[in-house]
Amino acid sequence: MGTKNSRLQGFYQLNPFERLQMVKSFDGLGDEDLRVLHGGQGILSVERADKMIENVIGTFNLPLGIATNFTINGRDYLIPMVVEEPSIVAGASYAARMVREGGGFVAISTEPLMIGQVQVVGVAAPQSARHAILSHKQALIETANAQSRSLVALGGGARDVEVHFHATSPMGPMLVVHLIVDCRDAMGANAINSMCEAVAPLIEQITGGRVYLRILSNLSDRRLARARCVVPPSALARDGLSGEEVAEGIMWAYAFAAVDVYRATTHNKGILNGIDPVIVATGNDWRAIEAGAHAYAARSGQYTSLSVWERDEAGNLVGSLELPMAVGIVGGATKVHPAAQTALKLLGVESAGELAQIAVCAGLASNLAAMRALACEGIQQGHMGLHARQIAMAAGAAGGLVDEVARRMVEERNIKPARAEELVAELRG
Ligand code: MEV
Repeated sequence: MGTKNSRLQGFYQLNPFERLQMVKSFDGLGDEDLRVLHGGQGILSVERADKMIENVIGTFNLPLGIATNFTINGRDYLIPMVVEEPSIVAGASYAARMVREGGGFVAISTEPLMIGQVQVVGVAAPQSARHAILSHKQALIETANAQSRSLVALGGGARDVEVHFHATSPMGPMLVVHLIVDCRDAMGANAINSMCEAVAPLIEQITGGRVYLRILSNLSDRRLARARCVVPPSALARDGLSGEEVAEGIMWAYAFAAVDVYRATTHNKGILNGIDPVIVATGNDWRAIEAGAHAYAARSGQYTSLSVWERDEAGNLVGSLELPMAVGIVGGATKVHPAAQTALKLLGVESAGELAQIAVCAGLASNLAAMRALACEGIQQGHMGLHARQIAMAAGAAGGLVDEVARRMVEERNIKPARAEELVAELRG
């Protein structure tokens, strides 16, 4: 176990500035990092944003929270999460606390291999074209690697070539060449796309066919991250329910997602609730993660739960989660966005694989938190406090009045805009 302790008791009761000080002492962030995290001068400037996308007119802020209590592979992490939805950060932290009682998460990631696709049509003899492509494998790899020196400098590069054949499609047969690329610590999209474009003329020459699309696949099923956790039933007991009762409810929640596609979609959304905020906080491409996750959930031909939950012989709840995790810690927005840089610094990750492991653990934690809540008190109760604060703010409350109006509405079990307006007027008066 590392020396840092992510079990920050009472963290949620502090104000944002006090929390920041606690985060600082966890990981020795500097004053400049704090300013960035706290939305000071270091946050994404319009000038910088203007270099990132087109037609920029400004920037858009989202809350940045810290999920506490995570132990992954024996090391404690404070996990930055950027997300607009209440209860996600609290839920992940609560689940991580339960998992801590079972020894924490264990996570691994595979080699960072991605797939680039080159579509070839109009090939007269597809099987002999396939042979020809494979016999030119070395030349294709060299051509690809000559294109992306930065990836090669990182220790990555094209590693292999595969050929797939679709005998029919709405337009007729096609060959699809897969370039297998080791992306190391880069997400790799740009390098892969450039490589695919670079090898296309050679592929046309070899096959006599015509190349159309040259683009990476977001089904990065060779770049997986896996997480596993063991939760003793004693950690699950709450609000008059025994750990055994809660575990049984969670198993029924999982069983529902395993067999029912409508439920599996929502269940997986709950997993991505934990993953996407880490992806966003670190400047990574959350659409790529979403696309890969849902395709992976349907890899058997039947869309199903991404996570698997079981009971072991000791009665513990054992959760596991595996999904594609194409993330980088160099290049792109991870480099350009100051807050993403600080988030990576806070995590202290040394490789893209380590970031992938953290993200998948956050996903498993969110899944556990959602299933526990759904199987017990329901999901709404946890939302109440923050929901009430949002209603209070919309009704014009500011400063200390927000908490007071919210507290009164929760107490009265009447969280409505009209009531918030009455309370604002009354308390101001
Ligand atoms: C809400 O954002 C996520 C949940 O719907 C996930 C689930 O149902 O498992 C609570």
